[in-house]
Amino acid sequence: MVLNLLLVSSIIKSTFGVVTTGLWLIPLMLATITYFRYDRLDPESRPIDQQIFLKEYDFIVVGSGSAGAVVANRLTEIQPWKVLLLEAGPDENEISDVPALAAYLQLSKLDWQYKTEPSDRACLGMKNNRCNWPRGKVLGGSSVLNYMLYVRGNRYDYDHWESLGNPGWGFKDVLHYFKKSEDNRNPYLNKNKYHQTGGLLTVQESPWHTPLVAAFVEAGTEIGYDNRDINGEQQAGFMIAQGTIRRGSRCSTAKAFLRPIRLRPNLHISMNSHVTKVVINPVTKRATGVEFVKNGKLFRINARKEVILSAGAINSPQVLMLSGVGPKSHLESHGIKVIKDLPVGENLQDHVGMGGLTFLVDKPVAIVQDHFNPTSLTYQYVLNERGPMTTLGGVEGLAFVHTKYSNKSIDWPDIQFHMAPASINSDNGAQVKKVLGLKERVYNDVYKPIGNKDSWTIMPLLLRPRSRGWVRLKSKNPFQYPLINANYFDDPLDIKTLVEGAKIALRVADARVFKQFGSRVYRKHLPNCKHLKLLSDEYLECQARTISMTIYHQSGTCKMGPAWDQEAVVDPRLRVYGISGLRVIDASIMPTVSSGNTNAPVIMIAEKGADLIKEDWLTNPEYRNADKS
Ligand SMILES: Cc1cc2nc3c(=O)[nH]c(=O)nc-3n(C[C@H](O)[C@H](O)[C@H](O)COP(=O)(O)OP(=O)(O)OC[C@H]3O[C@@H](n4cnc5c(N)ncnc54)[C@H](O)[C@@H]3O)c2cc1C
Ligand SMILES: *[C@@H]1O[C@H](CO)[C@@H](O)[C@H](O)[C@H]1NC(C)=O
Repeated sequence: MVLNLLLVSSIIKSTFGVVTTGLWLIPLMLATITYFRYDRLDPESRPIDQQIFLKEYDFIVVGSGSAGAVVANRLTEIQPWKVLLLEAGPDENEISDVPALAAYLQLSKLDWQYKTEPSDRACLGMKNNRCNWPRGKVLGGSSVLNYMLYVRGNRYDYDHWESLGNPGWGFKDVLHYFKKSEDNRNPYLNKNKYHQTGGLLTVQESPWHTPLVAAFVEAGTEIGYDNRDINGEQQAGFMIAQGTIRRGSRCSTAKAFLRPIRLRPNLHISMNSHVTKVVINPVTKRATGVEFVKNGKLFRINARKEVILSAGAINSPQVLMLSGVGPKSHLESHGIKVIKDLPVGENLQDHVGMGGLTFLVDKPVAIVQDHFNPTSLTYQYVLNERGPMTTLGGVEGLAFVHTKYSNKSIDWPDIQFHMAPASINSDNGAQVKKVLGLKERVYNDVYKPIGNKDSWTIMPLLLRPRSRGWVRLKSKNPFQYPLINANYFDDPLDIKTLVEGAKIALRVADARVFKQFGSRVYRKHLPNCKHLKLLSDEYLECQARTISMTIYHQSGTCKMGPAWDQEAVVDPRLRVYGISGLRVIDASIMPTVSSGNTNAPVIMIAEKGADLIKEDWLTNPEYRNADKS
């Protein structure tokens, strides 16, 4: 036990840098988890961190996130193919296992801790008008930091991708790949044609719910929406969320796709390995390998067949640009030799939501940090895999609704709701305020007075933003962070749509079913919106611009498209235009962000991308001949 406590305190220190007093729950809980549970219930051991490398591999995969872990798994199914998977971060730890602690990973060492450039249209309630953009820097990538919601997006998203000139990406094609990974534990869902059991990724509901989420789903029916599986036949509707969890713990892609294959002899996984560039021959324009830094040492390793970038929507474009693939004048301005002029880093999209809508209740039905008894909580979690610690990063309910701007004759809603049995005030300022980067004045004026009071929230988010941002290099130093312009609300229709979404959320919260809890909207002006009538359209717009929340769905920066698409970076087989032996497989290839949370779509993209690689190298004679030469 002493040993375990030591281990735990070192994990906390290494994850958080310092031990914060607000995290009172964690040490106790971790001690118990480590002692009772961790190894007993997690039979698949951790991947091995490779220290000695071959000079050459068939494939090098850069980044082990939602996409890279899947790609590495599927490629190493072909026994003769030797694969090197490079990950900038370390392995997962015990905190990342606990679903309800998702927000505690942000601003830790497992987070890249990006920030958007200051804006005068959005993120106005955040310090320096900059929104925090967490991204996983860990084996499993952002699937280790995420809120685990399992959402596939809308069938028309994929039919739209296909109609843009990307054959093979329509809904009927991609459904196969969503199902390929899936092990859905809900017996009511897993027998229909949209779901499957037996895949590597476990999908289930959290085993614990507040009464508020049942009310939320019922409120949906009061305003005319059915309770339905939003990943099934139709999307518009309300549902208790399903998540990527297994036995009450997070099921990251590292856990699902890497742990089971840790002993495959043709896979080397190297952690703490930061890729600084793809090596591309400027004459033949072929990618021949990568350079990376591990433990202060620079390695250069060759790839016989291909380099695959799965570094995510911020880092894949950064690595491409550092390697000479990107907008010509931009690269030249940083003194980078241009190998291929492509619009890398453009077309950045994210889902932006309106945070801070808060509903107070009179009954103790919400999650309030200080009301929980840590010992009983921990034992519930550790011994029974139940209790509030299993909530999906706090989000319990999901819904998809139409605003007046949406075409109601097709099932393609333009607003999603995240319903949580807690709000910004619920941890009394311990963590949520920090991860959002809220200005002290905003927190102190509005949320501090109701700290620790039972409350809940609906966050409306914009599913198909029209605004586009960008990622650009700050310098050619690979360790310097790129500049990120989220460009939220650049297109005026975006904020108008979000305001309409907020109005529907207010109707939901006003439904009869919530009266049993004495639920009512919290009426307190944001300090910079005081001149506006509370909850008027103008006020809601001001609120969206003040508490603009990323839903962490960054995508689009290496857009997939046909050869004639001026914005395309990769072709429909995910090959970088003009460079051979180089693909991008991650969230950055989405031409338009999917209408929903992006983890499942990225896993689908990786499943399909790995199949495209297999098809090319195993059946296309052009590839096989290239291999011999
Ligand atoms: C806080 C948070 C909450 C979220 N909640 C949800 C949710 O509930 N449901 C949902 O569906 N989606 C959610 N998402 C979004 C979803 O997790 C992401 O869309 C998805 O994980 C992106 O996958 P990816 O493979 O493109 O990138 P990532 O998973 O980010 O993987 C990229 C990997 O590459 C590594 N890397 C980057 N640069 C380099 C380099 N130079 N060298 C070596 N390695 C490198 C990174 O460290 C990382 O491991 C959330 C995301 C976050 C951050
Ligand atoms: C709405 O969608 C239908 C079906 O796709 C389409 O025929 C119609 O033109 C659309 N209407 C508008 C206003 O876009």
